[in-house]
Amino acid sequence: MRTTLSLSLAALFLGASARTAEEQNALSDPTAECAWYDYPPVTNVLASYPPIGTPVKGIMPGDSAGQAKFDSFKANIPNIAPRGVDGAFATDALSKYDKTDPDCWWSFSTCAQPKLAGLKPDIFDVPEPRTLGYGFDDGPNCSHNAFYDLLQQNKQKATMFFIGTNVVAEPLQALRAAQDGHEICVHTWSHRAMTAFTNEQIFGELWYTMQIIKVVTGYTPTCWRPPQGDADDRVRFIAQQLGLQNIIWKHDTFDWHVPAGQSTPEEVQKNYDDFIALVGKGEFDHVGAILLAHELDNYTMQTAMDNYAKLVKAFDHVVPVGVAFNKTQPYVETNLTFPNFQQYISGQSGGSSGTPSGSGKPSGSGSPSKSGSAANPSNTTGQQGGISAGVSVKAPAAMALALLGAALVL
Ligand SMILES: *[C@@H]1O[C@H](CO)[C@@H](O)[C@H](O)[C@H]1NC(C)=O
Ligand SMILES: *[C@@H]1O[C@H](CO)[C@@H](O)[C@H](O)[C@H]1NC(C)=O
Ligand SMILES: *[C@@H]1O[C@H](CO)[C@@H](O)[C@H](O)[C@H]1NC(C)=O
Ligand SMILES: *[C@@H]1O[C@H](CO)[C@@H](O)[C@H](O)[C@H]1NC(C)=O
Ligand SMILES: *[C@@H]1O[C@H](CO)[C@@H](O)[C@H](O)[C@H]1NC(C)=O
Repeated sequence: MRTTLSLSLAALFLGASARTAEEQNALSDPTAECAWYDYPPVTNVLASYPPIGTPVKGIMPGDSAGQAKFDSFKANIPNIAPRGVDGAFATDALSKYDKTDPDCWWSFSTCAQPKLAGLKPDIFDVPEPRTLGYGFDDGPNCSHNAFYDLLQQNKQKATMFFIGTNVVAEPLQALRAAQDGHEICVHTWSHRAMTAFTNEQIFGELWYTMQIIKVVTGYTPTCWRPPQGDADDRVRFIAQQLGLQNIIWKHDTFDWHVPAGQSTPEEVQKNYDDFIALVGKGEFDHVGAILLAHELDNYTMQTAMDNYAKLVKAFDHVVPVGVAFNKTQPYVETNLTFPNFQQYISGQSGGSSGTPSGSGKPSGSGSPSKSGSAANPSNTTGQQGGISAGVSVKAPAAMALALLGAALVL
């Protein structure tokens, strides 16, 4: 990350900072992929978003749409106390919790069937037999081209749970996910424990991630995954008001344990092997699986790539989670249609093979532009503006990411 930061600053001072999606997607050297670029559609709105890499404090000043949305349901939020502060659990959060699990707190009991009436159950497996609901947490990673290329070559779509902060830092990588036809879900803004936030913070962690994904891809997600699976009926209620379906998992690769220094690659490979062996034992003959894995760093992506063919061989079908539920409208915007399960597995969707169809490919709300101040070294006034905006926003962003790398792992 130190490399990323110094490259970022070098790019700023050279003023060579804009990049198109095509240019970004064609890069194969991870260092080049991770070099900073300016992306005006994000840079231009960043001031109205929470700082990246840190817990959302609440609704941003001047965000009347966010405030109105929150006000429309806040009186009905279940009265359950936050289990800590700013997304960090209180040390006695578990020990002082009522052992009858009144709040359906997943971190306590893996409860996924809410106790509060009117809440949708969490999804943790898929209804189609011998089927894997394929997905990855914690993206977009700056250097994901090798991984996404493999998926693209195999016409494989997956469900990508994106961290808002990463979408800000790596917008072209997020855009690629949409253009490649992956299903994009929310994985919160700062990747903290959601039950340890106030109501307004929970709202902000979800709301701003939804908005920035819309800014970058043109689409607003309708699904989410809580970091560490941490949700209770208060968190579920707020997510449901935002139209977000909670998708968790039942099986875990524990791939993130390796970057966290808590496990070895051999142990993770054994987790993959044991999971794959379950298919042969008939474990998924009636109900398919969701497996937790990460787009976190070079190691987790490489491990996903190494195991992709084995998963495809073991399961009858490997599909995005939404596809396994025939969710043909994965976003709030209705002009993009995904294949249903039958269409996906027979490789068709209104014409093209297993790809989402719409009036066009997602293009983002503004195409990455080579014009504009930061990209134009000859415009001194503009360049100054670009550099100071870049330094005050993007460089601290990179620094925050570097410092918080470990915190973003779980
Ligand atoms: C992405 O992966 C690279 C390579 O492993 C790593 O250095 C970086 O910290 C990761 N994270 C993000 C947010 O890009
Ligand atoms: C991991 O890094 C190596 C060396 O930079 C690179 O060749 C490889 O493509 C990367 N793998 C992934 C999955 O990004
Ligand atoms: C999806 O559609 C297929 C028919 O195309 C049907 O068999 C299956 O039950 C549907 N799944 C769900 C979860 O509705
Ligand atoms: C869908 O509509 C949104 C506006 O609601 C627009 O930004 C986007 O480009 C459209 N996408 C397609 C594929 O037509
Ligand atoms: C220079 O940059 C400023 C600020 O972005 C912009 O308003 C102006 O039109 C640019 N001028 C030229 C000649 O590109």
